[in-house]
Amino acid sequence: MMQKWWQKRNIYQIYLRSFYDSNHDGIGDIQGVIAKLPYLQSLGIGVIWISPHYDSPMDDNGYDVRDFYQVSADYGTIADFKQLLSEAHKKDIKVITDLILNHTSDEHAWFVAAKDPSHPDHDKYHDYYIWQKPKRDEFGVRTCPTRWIGWFGEKAWEYNPGTNEYYLHIFSKKMPDLNWHCVAMKNDLKQMIKWWVDLGIDGFRVDASNHLEKNWAFPDAYPGYENFSSLPKHHEYLRELGEEIFVPSDLLTIGESGGANKEEALLYCGFDSHEFNMLIQFGHCWADNDNHHPKLLGKWAVGPLNLPVIKSSFANWYEMLQDRGWNVIYWANHDQPRVVSHYGDDGAFRTPSAKMLAMTLYFMPGTSITYQGEEIGMTNVLYEQLSDFRDTEVFTEFQNMKKAGYLETEALALIKARCRDNARTPMQWSSDQNGGFSSGTPWIKTNLNYQTINVADQEKDSDSILHLYQTILHLRNRDEDIRNGKVTFFDVNSPVEFSYINRGNHGDYLVIANFTKNPIQANIPLDSLDGFHQLLENYPNPPALSSRMTLRPYEAIVYYRTKC
Ligand code: GLC
Ligand code: CA
Repeated sequence: MMQKWWQKRNIYQIYLRSFYDSNHDGIGDIQGVIAKLPYLQSLGIGVIWISPHYDSPMDDNGYDVRDFYQVSADYGTIADFKQLLSEAHKKDIKVITDLILNHTSDEHAWFVAAKDPSHPDHDKYHDYYIWQKPKRDEFGVRTCPTRWIGWFGEKAWEYNPGTNEYYLHIFSKKMPDLNWHCVAMKNDLKQMIKWWVDLGIDGFRVDASNHLEKNWAFPDAYPGYENFSSLPKHHEYLRELGEEIFVPSDLLTIGESGGANKEEALLYCGFDSHEFNMLIQFGHCWADNDNHHPKLLGKWAVGPLNLPVIKSSFANWYEMLQDRGWNVIYWANHDQPRVVSHYGDDGAFRTPSAKMLAMTLYFMPGTSITYQGEEIGMTNVLYEQLSDFRDTEVFTEFQNMKKAGYLETEALALIKARCRDNARTPMQWSSDQNGGFSSGTPWIKTNLNYQTINVADQEKDSDSILHLYQTILHLRNRDEDIRNGKVTFFDVNSPVEFSYINRGNHGDYLVIANFTKNPIQANIPLDSLDGFHQLLENYPNPPALSSRMTLRPYEAIVYYRTKC
């Protein structure tokens, strides 16, 4: 089958606010991305995905859009954006942006009219959002329509005195949810999407795409996630966008959804489906959650790392989509801790573990996404006080933890381990002030380790994590066997070993890795190990290939054999 352009390229995710500040105001910007295009090219990147660049009051760093048609003044102008498109395209780098369809900012003109009965456009826009009348408790006190809890840990309803109603917000209260039953609202969004397509962008990462439909019976449930996540009708909306806009424009579209069974996976990103081309899912992301925690919900409930969860998620998605759809492979993004801190080791074994994580991920088939800073092994934040953090979610959850009986020091430790700011500190370009990100005061403090972890030093060191990423990403560009191969994962149940073979038309890649900080015995269950030669390793003098091998902490080796 003829392959599409997006099946042949490596994606790099840019968190605009923290990537590179070109005008010294402490905020990353579009000109900063233009300045770093040569860096991305040398890394082997063929697509950049840019986090929201729209006008926004920045309650959630731009996921709260005030005006879809304006570039945020923090980031530049529409002229800068057009320049980015043309400079990137000259280098054969495609550009995709975030597309936020589940909510707007409460400062968006639609919501300003919707909440205020005296506004001339009130009647037109009220229905663009989701409203419910208050309930009364046994004492006659006004209460929320349901006990639903949103994704940032706060109640999902906010009272609006102007209309004596509550509006639904499954993220922050400054992000009211849009009503996808409202045809006029949908049409306005479609017009906006077409406007960006006409400007020349190459696709979208569609934010929070499995939340578009809600349970309009509004049952009282706690926390109630099933009432605003993955309801069947959201597929109808996505198919409609796909058929009317995405597919005819040959865009790359990537959805975002937590969890899907085989049938749904194929709806999202099967070759015959018209929803997306790929789906970002989270099966491998929180493999150390304690799902039966007595006090905390979701990612805040930290348990021991369960490696089989990670491997079976990759294996499951590979099997669900094999020959029928397209996979995306990635370790983490702007919503998660840094992968080297989370699944590797950010102390003595930082370099070998970051390399191990690269070797285990990037020899799987599909299209890869590298999150900014991953390629130099950036770590979780080393902040000591709550005031250093910026993410709105941190402050809500800190209070929730205190209410649940945690000491402030314990709560801070949990925040440091799990919060999204871990991934949002400035990119560490050099050992200069603020890691070379900005000569102004960064909007969020640079991680303290920039003098030892930065791009400039790793560019000079041929044995660096960065050089390994360059090698692997260029290899993925050259060898379609990696992107299209047939994978067999070895012993998915092993809690310590992450090994597999990826068989291609011309050759096979064999990846063997120790996912722990202790030495292990790795078992390679292949009938024959003849013909393999070593391609990559993360330690000097790696052991000879055999069916049982002793591996050092986080040791990983990639072998290759040709078929001819
Ligand atoms: C997605 C984004 C996240 C954002 C949320 C609300 O999950 O990745 O950063 O806060 O949607 O838009
Ligand atoms: Ca700036």
